[in-house]
Amino acid sequence: MGATNEKEMTLEGGFMMPHANSFGHTFRNYDAESERQEGVENFYRRNHIYQTVDFVRKMREEYGKLKRVEMSIWECCELLNEVVDESDPDLDEPQIEHLLQTAEAIRKDYPNEDWLHLAGLIHDLGKVLLLPIFGGLPQWAVVGDTYPVGCRFDESIVHHKYFMENSDYNNPAYNTKYGIYSEKCGLNNVLMSWGHDDYMYLVAKENKTTLPSAALFIIRYHSFYALHREGAYEHLMNDEDVENLKWLNIFNKYDLYSKSKVRVDVEKVKPYYLSLIEKYFPAKLKW
Ligand SMILES: [Fe+2]
Ligand SMILES: [Fe+2]
Repeated sequence: MGATNEKEMTLEGGFMMPHANSFGHTFRNYDAESERQEGVENFYRRNHIYQTVDFVRKMREEYGKLKRVEMSIWECCELLNEVVDESDPDLDEPQIEHLLQTAEAIRKDYPNEDWLHLAGLIHDLGKVLLLPIFGGLPQWAVVGDTYPVGCRFDESIVHHKYFMENSDYNNPAYNTKYGIYSEKCGLNNVLMSWGHDDYMYLVAKENKTTLPSAALFIIRYHSFYALHREGAYEHLMNDEDVENLKWLNIFNKYDLYSKSKVRVDVEKVKPYYLSLIEKYFPAKLKW
């Protein structure tokens, strides 16, 4: 099972590498550079050691203040895009193409679910956390699989063995099946390992989006492979989560599948997405 997850990580990691690269050069961030070279396994080693309840609470508090930037959703798409433009021209397509590929593929099959198209467009915007103006977080705190903290780490999580070095691993308050949670408490009451998913969820929620809860669910849990691929942590889900998970399963097919070479004419589809943004978000958001 872990091997499958690792494959996804390679996809995701491959996608992000241009960022690590350009930052490594521009800002002489030797930590990020060495991290990039260590590969997927070391990425997860760091991730599993440092993602603790304390760490997640601190990040949610810090980034929940939304005091860094004010910009529109589309401006954020472009911001994420610029990062890739700075790097080697031989590298992957710009992020905005992945966002639009996902959104357009969903739109083709689900023409009436406009909220799902918009979820496709914005689901990865939280990757701006890699940018210096957002604190330039390391890869392990931005991308990769996510999972709950505050209860036992499920064995289906990729590279589970590294959790033994996590300080929560031997904490009796955090290492039981329920930990700090209770049966069917609802995933929105569960602390997730910190990354671009939870950050974008916070941004959308705090800026009072009118997107349905299924869209917020997709944004927050799209990297939660232990749940949507392995069926772990179902005991924490409430009835609404069960309903929303159906949409997440649909979404995930497009998210992975769309990392392809199908080009999207950004200028052609932009008016449609601007109209969706206007429908579901304020003109300017706090980030
Ligand atoms: Fe993502
Ligand atoms: Fe994605």
